[in-house]
Amino acid sequence: MVITIANQKGGVGKTTTVVNLATALASIDKKVLIIDMDPQYNSSMSFNAYDSKLSIYRVFSNEVNIRDAIQKSQIPHLDVISACEDLAAAEYELADDDNRNTLLKNYISEIKDNYEYIFIDTPPTLGLLTVSSLTASDEVLIPVQCEFFALEGLSKLIKTIELVKSNLNINLKLNGIILTMYDRRNSLSSLIEREAREYFDTNVYKFNVPRNVTLSEAPSHGLPAIIYDLKCSGSQAYIALAKEFLERGSSNGSQ
Ligand SMILES: Nc1ncnc2c1ncn2[C@@H]1O[C@H](COP(=O)(O)OP(=O)(O)OP(=O)(O)O)[C@@H](O)[C@H]1O
Ligand SMILES: [Mg+2]
Repeated sequence: MVITIANQKGGVGKTTTVVNLATALASIDKKVLIIDMDPQYNSSMSFNAYDSKLSIYRVFSNEVNIRDAIQKSQIPHLDVISACEDLAAAEYELADDDNRNTLLKNYISEIKDNYEYIFIDTPPTLGLLTVSSLTASDEVLIPVQCEFFALEGLSKLIKTIELVKSNLNINLKLNGIILTMYDRRNSLSSLIEREAREYFDTNVYKFNVPRNVTLSEAPSHGLPAIIYDLKCSGSQAYIALAKEFLERGSSNGSQ
């Protein structure tokens, strides 16, 4: 199953969610691949796996076969395909290519059977990199930061998902919405939570990710928080979310 993590708002926890959810699933022996489609290559860095020569950009430019771009991470069962800065150029280099939206889907089809879950981390834009990720995916997972204006951009994202669904990928489903950086002491957090749950109902994951400094420190050690400090509240939240992710998958019959 291929899952894109998307939100065109920057810094809402996309990468943190990809890195820790994928690690939690790999740690219970699920075979997982992360494809970093963000030219900022944050998820590649989170595993010390940044390598511009093996980047997904080199796959797009036919310099590297997608199988050869796969790197093992330090976590068993978890592989990574790196991003690099040049990926930003793909947006306009591929602008005239009729197959631009389905390129990634076609590459992924070569390796899809080797993994139970392929997570795609996307940049904070709704351009080609995000659209082609959505086109290649079975499901989309949306992290939403518990901050003012958090829900404002969501309607644009949902519209983009609907457009991809009707034009490029009829099978695309919403996996769910994860509320991130939740602060119990901040009434704004509970307000955003209430609004999100009222509007999106059961699409919102039961567990929220708390604001937790360890989640932001772990990447500088080249490790997912779950490996860096399993006991911290952030790691525990992502473990709970991974369980919920699996339950949701089995209840909608997509696994
Ligand atoms: N629950 C959390 N508690 C505290 N800090 C967090 C939490 N989640 C993420 N962060 C930190 O907030 C920043 C933004 O998070 P992250 O990089 O995951 O967001 P993003 O949506 O991927 O950003 P971008 O749009 O730039 O790719 C990072 O410094 C990250 O370490
Ligand atoms: Mg990111």
